[in-house]
Amino acid sequence: MSWKIQSMEDYAVAYQKSKKNPNDFWADIAKTFTWKREWDSVLSGSIENTDVKWFDGAELNITENCLDRHLKERGDKVALLFEANDPNEAARTYTYKELHETVCKTANMIKDLGIKKGDRVCLYMSMVPELLISVLACARIGAVHSVVFGGFSAEALAGRIEDCECKLLITNDAGFRGAKTIPLKNISDEALEKPGSKCIEKVLVHKRVGENVSMKEGRDIWWHDVYDAASSDCVAEVMQAEDPLFILYTSGSTGKPKGILHSTAGYMVWAAYTFANVFQVEENDTYWCTADIGWITGHTYITYGPLLNGATTTMFEGVPTYPDAGRFWEIVEKHSISHLYTAPTAIRALMAHGKEIVESKNLKSLKVLGSVGEPINEEAWNWYNEVVGKKNCPIVDSWWQTETGGILISPLAGITETKPCYATLPLPGVFPVLMDTEGNEVPFGKGEGNLCIKTPWPGMTRGIWGDMDRFKQTYFSAYPGYYFTGDGCKRDEDSFYRITGRVDDVLNVSGHRIGTAEVEDAIGQHRDVIEAAIVGFDHDIKGQGIYAYVITNRLGDESIKAEILAAVTKHIGAIAKPDKIQLVPGLPKTRSGKIMRRILRKIAAHEFSNFGDTSTLLDPSIVDKIKEGVL
Ligand code: PRX
Repeated sequence: MSWKIQSMEDYAVAYQKSKKNPNDFWADIAKTFTWKREWDSVLSGSIENTDVKWFDGAELNITENCLDRHLKERGDKVALLFEANDPNEAARTYTYKELHETVCKTANMIKDLGIKKGDRVCLYMSMVPELLISVLACARIGAVHSVVFGGFSAEALAGRIEDCECKLLITNDAGFRGAKTIPLKNISDEALEKPGSKCIEKVLVHKRVGENVSMKEGRDIWWHDVYDAASSDCVAEVMQAEDPLFILYTSGSTGKPKGILHSTAGYMVWAAYTFANVFQVEENDTYWCTADIGWITGHTYITYGPLLNGATTTMFEGVPTYPDAGRFWEIVEKHSISHLYTAPTAIRALMAHGKEIVESKNLKSLKVLGSVGEPINEEAWNWYNEVVGKKNCPIVDSWWQTETGGILISPLAGITETKPCYATLPLPGVFPVLMDTEGNEVPFGKGEGNLCIKTPWPGMTRGIWGDMDRFKQTYFSAYPGYYFTGDGCKRDEDSFYRITGRVDDVLNVSGHRIGTAEVEDAIGQHRDVIEAAIVGFDHDIKGQGIYAYVITNRLGDESIKAEILAAVTKHIGAIAKPDKIQLVPGLPKTRSGKIMRRILRKIAAHEFSNFGDTSTLLDPSIVDKIKEGVL
């Protein structure tokens, strides 16, 4: 590829070009893809007007670029490698030819169920090949996929189905996950009983576990009953550059989850460009990203990015510690994995099991190690570098978000110098700025502030589904004319960036984004809860843990804690369960009724001094009472 960066000189040239002449820069890259019609303009609209468009006027289908484009040269190359939860189950592979055929058949199967271009399809599945296949099948026919992580509850699933009015739900009978099976169909049934889910007309069920599930006549269809009859000939739908490709829900600092919308052409170019340059995957490499396709990392760096580049992508159904803490390393050895892209939380969890487990496996195939999802602490970075990478594998600590579509700040493997805990330098096309407390740009050079991005990049989100006002408010109002990330950041004397974590009321628990307001709402639905306040605290493995302060009319009754956990599991899912629940007689509120979270964060961190100005508190004595009961 003409645009593949191979040295720091290439990087400098590309960066300058992307700054001086973004239209030519991105047009040259875009030309290397398959289009049905070329664009009229490369970039149009602006951040100020929240009407950014890339490659407007162009027509394409992303799956032709992921699949058809490779058939001639790489038809027999493995596109997808599947490692099952059970290490004794044989791994499955799909060559590009096989994946193309399977996606086409699946696309026709979905079409036969009445799905047309623009319809939304919800995928609530475990990490089986059919999930990736369904994602691509939707894109093939122009249906908008909305993948919901299999760890969310029936209620959370129903809320997401309702918000974007999905017509079809694709699920499994159940999913294997470590020692557990997740009853996905039963949870789906429960979700579909809610009035908001009436928009679902059909449920397509893929059998994975062989669980006994009930099938509703006229609504539910087994995948294996219709798949064979579907034609393997599926002409790719013609999509406009800005047609929606997918919606993915993520948590914000207030209210319900936001349906982050990504459109077709810009996302495609961004996914392909960032994957190629950050990971530097070569033709015979086997790349493995350990994320779940239910999160953005699995969309961009298991599915679209690798396939757009003709790479071999690995999908793992299970968890890092099943059947034991050596599973990741066993998979690396078994499949000669060259690129491993995982989250700091997994690294820390595996680190706790000692280096012997890692050293007992042959990890010679590894070339590049990636980190994503949360700040990586120095200890974990060093362990990853020394014990896993034997100091031979560059670590790409890649910073990005659901909203950014792909990586914005990251070392390029083997090219950029790395530094523990630093995401280092922005990719070409990305112009980060740090904002001071007055809302001014921190002058270039060493500094600290809130991280914003100054100009549009192709992969940026185009909106929140059905709520453009919230979109403007959330990302473009704090610093007019800039995209505000919600992250705090430092820049050092080498102009390297280090992301320090969220500056809003969003927690990052094991790399999962959790909105404090959502957890507070879930707890507040318990009949004996009067009010709850959620803050994060440092957690050795999870990065951040969830600390809940709860006012209840059963103060002193410890049994309510289990009920509170059950409420969170019911309304959101087990991933949002608080690690600590403290029953309190009141919360530190200002006279205007605002909770002073700063104080609650300090108490949760066992820092009992320097609370700052507490004179505006309605009842300052509450602080001491909370301190006494701290967990
Ligand atoms: O706080 C940042 C953190 O994860 C947030 C985005 O979460 P999500 O949309 O779920 O996407 C996660 C996968 C891209 C960011 O606002 N984050 C992500 N990557 C890093 C990070 N924090 C520090 N370093 C990173 N490499």
